[in-house]
Amino acid sequence: MQIEGAVHEDGRGPNNWDLFCQIQGNIQDGRTADIAADHYHYWKDDLELVHSLGVNAYRFSISWTRILPRGRFGEINSNGLMFYDKLIDSLVLKGIEPFVTLCHHEIPQELEDRYKSWLSPLIQDDFAFFAEICFKSFGDRVKYWVTINQPMLYTKFAYTMGTYPPGRCSTPFGNCSSGNSDTEPLIAIHNMILSHAKATEIYRNYYQPLQGGYIGVVVNAFMFEPYTNDEIGRDAAKRAMAFNLAWFLDPLIHGDYPAEMRHYLGGNLPTFSTGESNMMKDGLLDFIGVNHYSSFYAKDCIHSPCNPLESHPISGYVHFTAERDGILIGEKTVMPLLYVVPNGMEKIIEYLKTRYNNKPMFVTENGFPDGDVPIEQVNELLHDTKRVEFHKSYLASLARAIKDGADVRGYFVWSLMDNFEWTSGYSLRFGLHYVDFQTLKRTPKLSAKWYRNFLTNCTKIY
Ligand code: NOJ
Repeated sequence: MQIEGAVHEDGRGPNNWDLFCQIQGNIQDGRTADIAADHYHYWKDDLELVHSLGVNAYRFSISWTRILPRGRFGEINSNGLMFYDKLIDSLVLKGIEPFVTLCHHEIPQELEDRYKSWLSPLIQDDFAFFAEICFKSFGDRVKYWVTINQPMLYTKFAYTMGTYPPGRCSTPFGNCSSGNSDTEPLIAIHNMILSHAKATEIYRNYYQPLQGGYIGVVVNAFMFEPYTNDEIGRDAAKRAMAFNLAWFLDPLIHGDYPAEMRHYLGGNLPTFSTGESNMMKDGLLDFIGVNHYSSFYAKDCIHSPCNPLESHPISGYVHFTAERDGILIGEKTVMPLLYVVPNGMEKIIEYLKTRYNNKPMFVTENGFPDGDVPIEQVNELLHDTKRVEFHKSYLASLARAIKDGADVRGYFVWSLMDNFEWTSGYSLRFGLHYVDFQTLKRTPKLSAKWYRNFLTNCTKIY
């Protein structure tokens, strides 16, 4: 969705974002993803860019409605299958490993209209149906599957704050026409976990034995540091990690939600049946995909006053802040959720290593945003020294974690090129390549050249 465009072409069906982008006020710059970087037509050139970097893997997402325009309630779109077939073939031919995400924030609008998508258990079968088509069609060449991308942050925006589709929430979190921020995020995540479980069971039983691949999820992984260096502060940081990271991973690895969540959310937190728990216990995840960008301080809201959003069970009674005693945790970027804190990388990897018994990990996203500028100033964006420094320092931190024994098997830069950054529209640019969204011309930034050089020379960075 972030790069493809061609939303009305070759039988692709409408998804949750198509409609949402049309409504004024939803996207910061008022634009849509209808054209985006037009990757649907430029894919060959784009794969040349991937190739020219010298990387050995490329992560991309399959658009659900390009394959199933109406979910399970319509035909399979052979044009959609063909598009990804060509893309995958071409990657394999170039010796580049396809690393494929099945659900990256997009769902067929049909599923939203019929049964409120993630709020209904019916979506589990829809997702499994879609996933199986992908395993069957592409699994001979795709060996790395991600079921769902960043479920928790997505859910927070979609069902707590109401800023992503379907825009559901209740006060004090946001001002939506319907929704319930106390319960709906919990239900949505529950259905996502079970959707992952169903799809993975199918993969395990019918595809993996023959195809020999791996399956995992990608989580957004902020690192939370205690705001105060005492027990209350350390507890708040522990809660923040539980409510924002372990929420999704604990069930899939340990068979249930974190104890802190059960304690504070009580009956609002759905439960797994014994059968579900047993099935999940470390059986349905081959790797953890880690999207890491930033760290925050977690401030306790049980013993001290916070704003109403944070003195709330769904937030785990923690307030995230980037500032302590007037000092920022790291350099500010143009994105409110992103401070440059390189050593957060080794800390988050260490956390995951310890909590999940060093399950194999991939850093599936790590990147630096620039704000858009008028075309006359584009040179500033092309000379992106800050992005280069960002990657160098985070990679050095990652290298330290690996040296320390963490089982990290890969690293993906976010992103190959500038793209549609969800509700920020085109106002944030994460690419190693600059995209002129008027002419669709791609130009390598300094960071693309640096990355190629880094990969070629295996430069020592720590
Ligand atoms: C997380 C998401 O997976 C991706 O879609 C987004 O563009 C980047 N991070 C940057 O915010």
